[in-house]
Amino acid sequence: MQTVSSIPQNTPVQTDFLPLQGTDYVEFYVGNAKQAAHFYKTAFGFQSLAYAGPETGLKDKVSYVLRQHKLTFVLTTPLRSGNEIADHIYRHGDGVKVLALKTEDATSAWEETTKRGGKSYLEPVKLTDPDGEVTLSGIHTYGDTVHLFVERKKYNGIFLPGFKEWKSNYNPPSTGLLYVDHCVGNVGWNQMNPWVKFYENVMGFKNILTFDDNDISTEYSALMSKVMSNGNGFVKFPINEPAEGKKKSQVEEYLDFYDGEGVQHIAVATQDIVETVRDLKSRGVEFLKIPDSYYATVLDRVGHIDEDLAPLQELGILIDRDDEGYLLQIFSKPVEDRPTLFFEIIQRKGAKSFGKGNFKALFEALEREQDARGNL
Ligand code: FE2
Repeated sequence: MQTVSSIPQNTPVQTDFLPLQGTDYVEFYVGNAKQAAHFYKTAFGFQSLAYAGPETGLKDKVSYVLRQHKLTFVLTTPLRSGNEIADHIYRHGDGVKVLALKTEDATSAWEETTKRGGKSYLEPVKLTDPDGEVTLSGIHTYGDTVHLFVERKKYNGIFLPGFKEWKSNYNPPSTGLLYVDHCVGNVGWNQMNPWVKFYENVMGFKNILTFDDNDISTEYSALMSKVMSNGNGFVKFPINEPAEGKKKSQVEEYLDFYDGEGVQHIAVATQDIVETVRDLKSRGVEFLKIPDSYYATVLDRVGHIDEDLAPLQELGILIDRDDEGYLLQIFSKPVEDRPTLFFEIIQRKGAKSFGKGNFKALFEALEREQDARGNL
């Protein structure tokens, strides 16, 4: 069986009908946004940016906006039961609702995607305040997750119209997190290819990498994954589905506890992963433990790297290489009690891939956690 297929990145692309400049923000629906905001500031080093709630005219929800360099998180909580946000949290627990994408033209983005079969979530709407105007539109993707298209070229405000600046007395320093590198979705059995088709047909993305169950299987569990990328590579969405193994796939565990398809992890870039991870750990962020045996042979596999191995081993940072360079990565434990959403911290040194060489070590680490929860 073929193990990896890589489509050359310099293949000529027809006019991009959905030009995207990257991730605008990620919105989480959470049970208690006030406390979640404190966690993301304390543990991950985000700064307070903006707020919307009853004080700004909202009747039924509150949103806190946090920023760290180009990374913007919105944490939204409902004020009452019996609405879409409360139902989302009841079913999924805390999780990602919106992967918002920056575009020059949100009206065209909506028209081009819906005419190709995308299901509308939000028809183009213009929001204005004294700082200018923003146009938003959106379509549904896997599970209850949506993509919003954000056109903010005529806006100079702090975040979006309707938000006020959020000033806080508590401003912990950054941990060096820079921007969203990629966001991974977990979909159901046999649903990877339909969602690959969705990203190809509706959003004009290309499949740049494929991992089958031979690549991504351990003694116990397996998954399959295809990486979808937009034309300029600023937006990358790997899609995972469970595969048959001796025991329950980690993707299946996610699907059980999230009660459906959704965002599995958000990978965030840093320029100094050793510094960033040391800082995150000291602030209480928990990461998967990697056995020392991994480090005994890793340099035989990846060759020379600029970093000393000792701090990588001490922190559990993984290393992989592809034709263009290497990458350093580490995975957090889930950031809520359900074994669902987690974060990856990644430092790319030329490599454009996703750490295939680490899958075995990584999944064995994941399975130790899954086993400890009694879900293997
Ligand atoms: Fe990843």
